[in-house]
Amino acid sequence: METSSNNLTFHKSTIKKQDRNKLNQHKSCVLWFTGLSGSGKSTLANEVEKQLYDRGIRTYILDGDNIRLGLNKNLGFSAEDRKENIRRIGEVSRLFVDAGVLVLSAFISPYEADRAMARTMFDTGEFIEIYVNCALEICEQRDPKGLYKKARNGEIKDFTGISAPYEAPGSPELNIETGKYSLEESAKRIIEYLIQKQIL
Ligand code: PPS
Repeated sequence: METSSNNLTFHKSTIKKQDRNKLNQHKSCVLWFTGLSGSGKSTLANEVEKQLYDRGIRTYILDGDNIRLGLNKNLGFSAEDRKENIRRIGEVSRLFVDAGVLVLSAFISPYEADRAMARTMFDTGEFIEIYVNCALEICEQRDPKGLYKKARNGEIKDFTGISAPYEAPGSPELNIETGKYSLEESAKRIIEYLIQKQIL
């Protein structure tokens, strides 16, 4: 048993992730959807979850707005708060993966360094970064929540793509162009990736 410098001891459980994965008959991992507001992260995550559910896979969606209404309600949209947002989501995702669940985490997660930090929390192959790639102009045209309009009018500060940065992933596992492909085609690519990597 190892005790760290701050007098905390990590307790290892008898039943491990591998045992839970065996019981579930599939591996666990995190599908990390990153992209601009309105790029289609939640819609795509929902479609993929539906298809996984139909295949008998244990799933759970963690989504920006929902998590910010609860666990992360004390966080705003400064670079520092977004970093803490992603750190907590990374930790929560890790718990889900340890529990044997295929977790779909859909957050703007605009900073490459924050996504890289989240990746370090997982074993090799468990963190699957999916760039929900959609041009700002299209996201702004869609504007499903009217947020771009508000941001342009100066009613929302630090709005991603308008007054705050979005750093596109350099080498995501999957790059899904939601402006070019249908929802079904996009979801199919993700499912095929999971089959190819023997996660399903
Ligand atoms: S982040 O950057 O990863 O910490 O953001 P996230 O937790 O995914 O939250 C994004 C949702 O918050 C709403 N919202 C904003 N987004 C971006 N910038 C600003 N300033 C902002 N204010 C509120 C918005 O509904 C985002 O949801 P999506 O689904 O991405 O549109």
